[in-house]
Amino acid sequence: MKKDFWNDRVVVITGASSGIGKALYEELAIFPCELVLLARRAAEIEEPKNKHERTIIHLVTCDLSDSTSVMDAIEWIQKKVTKIDVLFNNAGITAHGRFDSLSMDVYRKTFATNFFGPIQLVRGLLPLLLLTKGNIVTTSTVSALYGVPGRAAYSASKSALHAALESLRIETLESGLGVSLVCVPYTDTALRTSGLDASGEILSEAPAKGKRKTASEVAHVLMSVAQNKEARLVTFNLSGKFLEWMRFFSPKFLEKILYKKLYEDFKPH
Ligand SMILES: NC(=O)c1ccc[n+]([C@@H]2O[C@H](COP(=O)([O-])OP(=O)(O)OC[C@H]3O[C@@H](n4cnc5c(N)ncnc54)[C@H](OP(=O)(O)O)[C@@H]3O)[C@@H](O)[C@H]2O)c1
Repeated sequence: MKKDFWNDRVVVITGASSGIGKALYEELAIFPCELVLLARRAAEIEEPKNKHERTIIHLVTCDLSDSTSVMDAIEWIQKKVTKIDVLFNNAGITAHGRFDSLSMDVYRKTFATNFFGPIQLVRGLLPLLLLTKGNIVTTSTVSALYGVPGRAAYSASKSALHAALESLRIETLESGLGVSLVCVPYTDTALRTSGLDASGEILSEAPAKGKRKTASEVAHVLMSVAQNKEARLVTFNLSGKFLEWMRFFSPKFLEKILYKKLYEDFKPH
């Protein structure tokens, strides 16, 4: 990764108040760049100790699930910066519940945050990104690669985002814009206490079992993807690759494994 890549760049990070977005912000603040940080709790974002003296930070309070709030954020950014080099399209929520137990409101809220908000933001900021032949790096999930049991709303919202951004990538093929989707594995963040349960209450779940990435490890991968225009669909490890390949080679076998590994907690009693 070229370290001086970030000097004088204008970078937008959504979901910079927690987890992966916060780690990205802390990693990038050491460079003399301009950071635009979006979140509902933007006002609570503190300056990191290691911030470069020339780094400029803008805090933008924005609820991605509210189109008026997203429109206000776009207008604010358009007035404040003259270009955008990288948009880290990172904010998101999870939603846990079986297909038929998730309320329709949860499906709608999950799509509002993970799909409609990001799409509206990307559309609004596109002219500023095209000016620099910039990069849109989306924090996605392996659950977008196949509909995962207990995650119908989450999987669907993220894979819908994949499809829309793939369309954008093709439509802007000659513009020099980079559009990449990074399918992150389990990572230690607040995701399982910030998302929604089937009835729309705030989720309260223990961290996923097994190996987990740190937010800072994921931030480093996202930062290197931002420097690579050829990056399209990025998976981190074998489980990501496995889903990617098995979808085509043996979906029946893949579904059996997903049923065994992930459905247990969601079976009707
Ligand atoms: N952690 C994992 O295991 C994992 C795995 C795969 C993919 N991911 C993806 O990683 C991304 C970041 O999540 P995280 O793991 O870092 O979880 P997190 O710690 O809960 O952070 C989520 C971030 O998204 C923001 N956000 C949520 N709803 C929002 C809304 N309506 N409007 C604006 N911002 C909103 C939150 O900010 P406010 O609450 O201040 O608004 C927060 O900064 C998500 O897209 C998630 O799907 C995570």
